[in-house]
Amino acid sequence: MNVAVNKQNLLYKIGVIPGDGIGQEVTPVAVDVLRAAGLPATYIELEAGWDTFQATGSALPDATLAALTGCDGAIFGAVSSPSGSVPGYASPIIALRKALDLYANLRPIRSAPLLQSRVGVDLLIVRENTECLYVKEERLEDDGRRAVATRVITADASTRIARKAFDLARARANARGRRGFVTIVHKANVLSVSDGLFRACALAVAEEYSDVAVEEQLVDSMAYRLILEPERYDVIVAPNLYGDILSDEAAALTGGLGLVPSANAGDGFALVEPVHGSAPDIAGQGIANPVASVRAAALLCAALGQETMAAVIEEAVTHVLAHGPRTRDLGGNATTQAVAEAIIEQVNRLKMKD
Ligand code: NAI
Ligand code: MG
Repeated sequence: MNVAVNKQNLLYKIGVIPGDGIGQEVTPVAVDVLRAAGLPATYIELEAGWDTFQATGSALPDATLAALTGCDGAIFGAVSSPSGSVPGYASPIIALRKALDLYANLRPIRSAPLLQSRVGVDLLIVRENTECLYVKEERLEDDGRRAVATRVITADASTRIARKAFDLARARANARGRRGFVTIVHKANVLSVSDGLFRACALAVAEEYSDVAVEEQLVDSMAYRLILEPERYDVIVAPNLYGDILSDEAAALTGGLGLVPSANAGDGFALVEPVHGSAPDIAGQGIANPVASVRAAALLCAALGQETMAAVIEEAVTHVLAHGPRTRDLGGNATTQAVAEAIIEQVNRLKMKD
């Protein structure tokens, strides 16, 4: 996941976009953990989201986008998006992925030391991040009685995401001392043109990686088998919408959305974020689980080439998950702040050991 050059003796410039709802509560924790871990960085707080839209008329101000292009990486919280269409509003995270060409959405999901977590899960969902139904070309026809959405699948994007998946499978295989394994997810039996193209491109890439095992899975049976035997899977590569849905499902296997991070990765930049959204049902109460955001910070360290720092943060999180304190989503009653302090204490302890 190394997407940026390692800049020894330099300060990284990190964009910080808390966004809406619990994004405002968990993102500062991630920054505090990065500071504790010793990432040499300056942090630039940037605006985006629904609240920004309400205040300024733009969900993604030009200033935010301009500042990000001068950053080495970014950490994002979450934004609230209305379910109906609001004139002038578009989800800034989707716009950012497009504007910065962050074509791969990488979502690692691993067993947690929790009773509610399945055992033996260690998988990586590699979600195509720029096209599919997320091009958002939707229109009403027939006096509003017919809604049509365009689904775009291109050979270039499909090949590029498949290469990413196979490269990562190879790297994971080396790190774990076993053969890599990629599952290509599609629904080409029904969508034979669009998913047919995705499938053909991914299978062509698979030919270049004889050291990596490959399997195809229709998306519906993938959803089923993820519940049945999640420990069987390694890297799962999928078009945008299927990857989005499967990653929330996979999160439920290992302790929930409060735990799972993601990296939106391009070739020279990563914007990391929790998989969860702004959680309006618990926002403002100080009880959101900060772990997903802290783990996103670890992914940012890894993307910057700071693997040791990433490992320290992950180990600190694992310790706190095992011993507490835990937030309500994990069956505890701790506040966001209490969990944050416990993670930072562990980061400091692990740093002393080095
Ligand atoms: P959500 O992920 O915000 O929440 C789903 C459920 O999980 C809620 O019950 C929530 O309380 C719980 N949850 C999520 N994160 C948690 C955490 N860190 N700690 C404890 N509990 C947590 O998804 P939902 O409710 O479907 O969407 C809410 C808003 O978030 C919507 O406006 C949606 O558009 C937006 N959203 C934004 C995303 C982004 O910015 N990347 C991603 C997903 C949703
Ligand atoms: Mg999602």
